[in-house]
Amino acid sequence: MRIGVLTAGGDCPGLNAVIRSVVHRALTGHDDEVIGFEDGFKGLLDGRFRKLDLEGVSGILARGGTILGSSRLERARLREACENAKGLSKDYGIDVLIPIGGEGTLTAARMLSDAGMPVVGVPKTIDNDISSTDRTFGFDTAVGVATDAIDRLKTTAESHQRVMVVEVMGRHAGWIALESGMAGGAHGICLPERDFDVNDLVKMVEERFARGKKFAVVCVAEGAHPAPGTMDYKKGAIDPYGHERFSGIGNALARELEKRLGKEARPVILGHVQRGGTPTAYDRVLATRFGWHAVEAAHRGDFGRMTALRGTDITMVPLAEAVTELKTVPATRMDEAESVF
Ligand code: F6P
Repeated sequence: MRIGVLTAGGDCPGLNAVIRSVVHRALTGHDDEVIGFEDGFKGLLDGRFRKLDLEGVSGILARGGTILGSSRLERARLREACENAKGLSKDYGIDVLIPIGGEGTLTAARMLSDAGMPVVGVPKTIDNDISSTDRTFGFDTAVGVATDAIDRLKTTAESHQRVMVVEVMGRHAGWIALESGMAGGAHGICLPERDFDVNDLVKMVEERFARGKKFAVVCVAEGAHPAPGTMDYKKGAIDPYGHERFSGIGNALARELEKRLGKEARPVILGHVQRGGTPTAYDRVLATRFGWHAVEAAHRGDFGRMTALRGTDITMVPLAEAVTELKTVPATRMDEAESVF
């Protein structure tokens, strides 16, 4: 069997572990050939690929990013790919394509599959917002980075009697804010799933200082929004991929808290630090398992599906099911977090 693999969308710790696992399973468990397309679907469309062998994936397990490169694809180019889905498979002589990516990539994978290309998807995203899988790799690493940042910010906040507003990634789902906020012991958490009331945050900080505490940390997801009428906030410009650019909620909230409290506040935007660097052991293991199962699914002809974690088992779920809606934080999870503020 000849397998094509690519990584698309925002990068994520663990991508290299999947690539390595696919190559190992395909070459040593079967008698396959693997080619890797460069820079996501762009490499597939432009004919940029290279053969992957065991030597080529040696030493990449713990490396962040992706050795294949990644990119986001414009809609028009995706349509181009779908119109020629069968032709593309034939041109490269691939029996299956394994795209590794988040919601956008898996939607593209589903479209290619519907258009006749044999596809087995592998979900990835630090946001952990893909439904049909209990976890995505990358999330554990991102939560670890954000938790470490909150731990560190507490000591400097206390030295200066400041309020720290830590903005973490998560445009539509607040999983990183929820779990890093809980693990780091933040005193307030703001998620995209529930508009926050800035008056509650002001009250929380005032009460802490009245109890003799000398600082506070608020963890805010980049997609969090204030309740209407509670503070001035206008979202920044939205880029062609639907991402807000250059005027985040972290800055706005820190400014607002400083104004209302008369205490120093500082915004800390963690941004892409959460996506870079070494994956945790958990993410390496999950990514490796996904890679193994993707190759096995390809050999069973289990196309149009993606690997998924259910409990402790890896199963296959239809791509159609995986991309219908995002997995957001349920209200109970927020209630659990709030009880320890
Ligand atoms: O989807 C992953 C993610 O890291 C989001 O959390 C974030 O909003 C977005 O990608 C950032 O995208 P870019 O790398 O294009 O700035």
